[in-house]
Amino acid sequence: MTATVLQARGLTKRFAGVTALAGVDLDVHEGEILAVVGPNGSGKTTLFNVVSGFHSATAGTVTFRGAVISGKRADRINRLGLARTFQQAMAFPTFTVAENLELAQLAHRDDPARRRELLGLCGLAGVAEARAADLPYGLQRKLGVAVGLATGPALMLLDEPAAGLSDTDAEDLAELILALPGRGVSVACIDHNLPFLLPIAHRVVVLDAGRKIFDGEPLEARRSAAVVEAYLGGSDV
Ligand SMILES: Nc1ncnc2c1ncn2[C@@H]1O[C@H](COP(=O)(O)OP(=O)(O)O)[C@@H](O)[C@H]1O
Ligand SMILES: [Mg+2]
Repeated sequence: MTATVLQARGLTKRFAGVTALAGVDLDVHEGEILAVVGPNGSGKTTLFNVVSGFHSATAGTVTFRGAVISGKRADRINRLGLARTFQQAMAFPTFTVAENLELAQLAHRDDPARRRELLGLCGLAGVAEARAADLPYGLQRKLGVAVGLATGPALMLLDEPAAGLSDTDAEDLAELILALPGRGVSVACIDHNLPFLLPIAHRVVVLDAGRKIFDGEPLEARRSAAVVEAYLGGSDV
């Protein structure tokens, strides 16, 4: 029986007039790479926002490593070991790559050795002194992941990390994500690039209009009529 690192139950989020999430249950198991997919507006980012404390839930509870985290502030949740990246590349543009990692570590423990290790793991060692804004786009996305990892998480939530990447850059990023469970980091990853995401995922959750319509193995997802109708129809995966 695998341990559960994150457990969300009945998560609901309403904005004025819009129910973005309607009673979603979500588990992430230790050592797992979970894919979260669904059409635009289906509630994927809202799910990550609520889990990570950036938005408060209208209803429902989130348990992380056995402790209830719903209602806690985002920075508190991060300190407990939950990191997330954003759809837009999020690093301080005028700071160098190394400075961005240093800043992320400041909230925790300054550790140059760990920073060098992260730069290597994320393929950023050669550009450590470059300004974040000057990096090619593929490396900016990797920097987003590196900044998250610099906070020492047990769980990373990645929001469309492969958006806008070339096939080669996406493959590179897939390799990095695949290395995370072996380093004690479980992953939940949103992406529309299914050829990137499904091969590295152990399990896939599909959202549609704020509801979870599928939770199972990637191969099964492709065979599910509901999933195909909501999302996969017509795409070549
Ligand atoms: N801050 C917000 N204020 C109002 N509505 C929002 C907000 N964030 C998201 N929504 C709405 O919630 C729904 C889900 O959005 P989102 O979680 O961003 O979807 P996805 O990431 O799957 O594309 C959409 O209808 C969106 O317009
Ligand atoms: Mg989104």
